[in-house]
Amino acid sequence: MPFLNSSDWLEYDKNHLWHPYTSMTDPLPTYPVESAHGVRIKLADGRELIDGMSSWWAAIHGYNHPALNAAIEQQLQSMSHIMFGGLTHLPAVNLAKKLIDITAEPLQHVFFADSGSVAVEVAIKMAIQYWYAQGQKNKQKLLTVRSGYHGDTLAGMSVCDPVNGMHNMFQGVLPEQIFAPHPECYADGSTNIEALEKQLCRHQSEIAAVIIEPIVQGAGGMRVYCPQYLQQLRLTCDRYNVLLILDEIATGFARTGTLFAYEQADIAPDILCIGKALTGGYMTLAATMTTARVVQGISADGSGILMHGPTFMANPLACQVANASIDLLLDSPWKSTIDTIEQQLKGELAACQEYPKVKEVRVKGAIGVVELHEAVDMKSMQADFVAQGVWIRPFNKLVYIMPPYIIKQNELTRLTSSIHHILKNL
Ligand SMILES: Cc1ncc(COP(=O)(O)O)c(C=O)c1O
Repeated sequence: MPFLNSSDWLEYDKNHLWHPYTSMTDPLPTYPVESAHGVRIKLADGRELIDGMSSWWAAIHGYNHPALNAAIEQQLQSMSHIMFGGLTHLPAVNLAKKLIDITAEPLQHVFFADSGSVAVEVAIKMAIQYWYAQGQKNKQKLLTVRSGYHGDTLAGMSVCDPVNGMHNMFQGVLPEQIFAPHPECYADGSTNIEALEKQLCRHQSEIAAVIIEPIVQGAGGMRVYCPQYLQQLRLTCDRYNVLLILDEIATGFARTGTLFAYEQADIAPDILCIGKALTGGYMTLAATMTTARVVQGISADGSGILMHGPTFMANPLACQVANASIDLLLDSPWKSTIDTIEQQLKGELAACQEYPKVKEVRVKGAIGVVELHEAVDMKSMQADFVAQGVWIRPFNKLVYIMPPYIIKQNELTRLTSSIHHILKNL
């Protein structure tokens, strides 16, 4: 029996479907979406919301883009999926070449994964297998910084911030990793890299790799740090002979003002994870890229097999829409677009600092963050934003936006003024 109206299916949703990070027995409300176009999300009751989230960093070109729609429709005519074991196809090969061309020169090899979390799992396996094949079987741990977020699978969770990532609940299940304080950059140009170096020095023989989100830590706290920290981190990893995994799943594809955030530090990782905006937010696809050194290293003991191979690896529809999304981005004046958004966000959000409940305002590229002193009441603040005609989803102490790059000046002002309106009255 099909559902006849949105209140029926909404009720079914409430009773039967889990949404991200929610309770099944006492769920937060969800808003039924009918369609989305450009930066507008149309709700089933006809209301239109301006999108401030890009569906969690992904929909950089907005929704229902004709070029991305066409890429999928065209690919559908030949095949929507084919197994990648023993077979290959041009959408995947073209995409791999594009990614190799636009990322740091040493990154020459691509593993396509089906989500960001899986790309992180693959990166961790690559690092562990690399050392295993060199006879260093003790090097199985990851070193990371606090306030990080790397996904919801078990290995990914193990390197998320231990408090935000609720490690207590999974004690004994999650692999135990090594943590340093989150990056701090001081006014005199120095950083707190020594704290991380201390951990590296102490645990060098058991650490396979350092994993970190470059320049902006996303869901673990929306913190911004300086390129000098990353430069020092690269040198420190080299000095202690551990691999460096950069997780650009959120920051990749121009979000922070450079195509990839690590470019701001002029470094290259040994392993790079990308996802989210890879397909312009159309389909789930991620990739783990690495260097010839890591590839050779994994094969050093003669077996050389990387232990991963998902069913939907390199899905042709996803690869083809990713090809179209990257072309769209590279053919656009993305640098000036992000700079303009950044200037507007800085100009329009700065005054939030005056409100008593606000702790700090941070802007980096097309990301605007207002951190409060206390956690927000998500349910009521969400409803207030929807009543203002915008889609902004706060969490914990953070009210933040990362809109599609196609957002117009007046639309972005609608987002920032709704933040003012709500925070002023808190
Ligand atoms: C930095 C980072 N790594 C990994 C992930 C996990 O990606 P996914 O949700 O596609 O599994 C995310 C998602 O928010 C992320 O921001």
